[in-house]
Amino acid sequence: MGVFASVNGNVVPAEQARVSVMDNGFTFGDAVYETLRTYGGRPFHLDRHLERLRASAGRLGIEAPAGDELFARRLDDLLARAGNDESYIRIILTRGEGDISYRFDRVKGPTLVMVVKPFEPPPARDYAEGIPIVIASVRRNHPRALDPAIKSNNLLNNILAVREGQAQGAAEAILLNDMGEVAEGASSNIFVVKGGVVSTPPLAAGILPGITRRLVLDLCRELGIPVAEETLIAADLFAADEVFITSTTKEAAPVRTIDGRTVGAGRPGPVHQRILQAYREYARRHAG
Ligand code: PDD
Repeated sequence: MGVFASVNGNVVPAEQARVSVMDNGFTFGDAVYETLRTYGGRPFHLDRHLERLRASAGRLGIEAPAGDELFARRLDDLLARAGNDESYIRIILTRGEGDISYRFDRVKGPTLVMVVKPFEPPPARDYAEGIPIVIASVRRNHPRALDPAIKSNNLLNNILAVREGQAQGAAEAILLNDMGEVAEGASSNIFVVKGGVVSTPPLAAGILPGITRRLVLDLCRELGIPVAEETLIAADLFAADEVFITSTTKEAAPVRTIDGRTVGAGRPGPVHQRILQAYREYARRHAG
C-alpha cells in the first residue's frame, strides 16, 4: 500500500519519481490533468476522464498519446504495484521538457505522469450533517481569458478561492463568474433544489464540465426528478431548499451553511439523499 507514480510508464514509489525542472509543466504550468478514484479497485469512468483530458490537451495544443489502451495499461500497472484498497488517481499530462522559453518547437514531450495514493473518503459527518461553504470574492476565470472547461494545472484561480474558504473554516469556496452568476466550486460543481426541481449552472456559465455533474443530471432523469441547467445567482443559493456540491472525490456532498447562513432545514435534504444513494449504487455496479 502507498503512494506510487508512473512517469512515462516507469513505475516507482512516489518519492523516487522525477520530472525535469525544465519541464513546461513546472516552468509554465503548461499541463492538463484529471482526478479519478477507484471503486472496487477499478478506475471509475476512465473513458470519460480521458475524453476530457484529450479535450483539455487539444485546447492547448498538447499532444496526448493516442488511444486509451496505453493509459489504461499504465494505470493498471500502477494500481497493481500500489495495492491500495481504493485509490485516488491523478493523471498529469505536460507539454514536456523545454528550455524555459515559448519556443514550443524545442519542447520534447509530452510527459505523462500518473500518481496513485490511498483514497481518503471525506468524513462521514460531512454527509450526515452537511458542510459549510462560502462564496469567494475572487471571480472564476473568464472563459475568454482561461476557459475553466480546460482542466489545467494552472490552478491559481482555484487556489485563491480555496484560501479564502479555508480562512473562514469552509469546506468549499464557490466562485461567481465575471457577470456575478454562480459558476462552480474551486474543485466541485454546485446544485440547488427548489420546489423539487434540481438546478445547476449551465456550461455557458464558464465551468468545468464535471463528470459527476453529468452523472447526477442523468441519474435525476432516471429517477424522474426534474432537472434544469439554468443561470443561478447567489440569492438562489440562499433561498434553496437544498444545496449540494459534486465531484469525483466528494460524490454529492450536502451543504449545511453558505457564508454562515443555514440552507433549508439545516440538514441534508430528501432529494440530495435520493441522488447520493443512486450515485453510490451506480458506482458500486460499475465496480462489478
Ligand atoms: N475537481 N469544477 C472544478 C473547478 C473542479 O476542479 C472539479 C474536479 C469539478 C468536478 O469535476 P468531476 O465531477 O469531474 O470530478 C468541478 C477534482 C476532483 C480535482 O480538482 O481534484
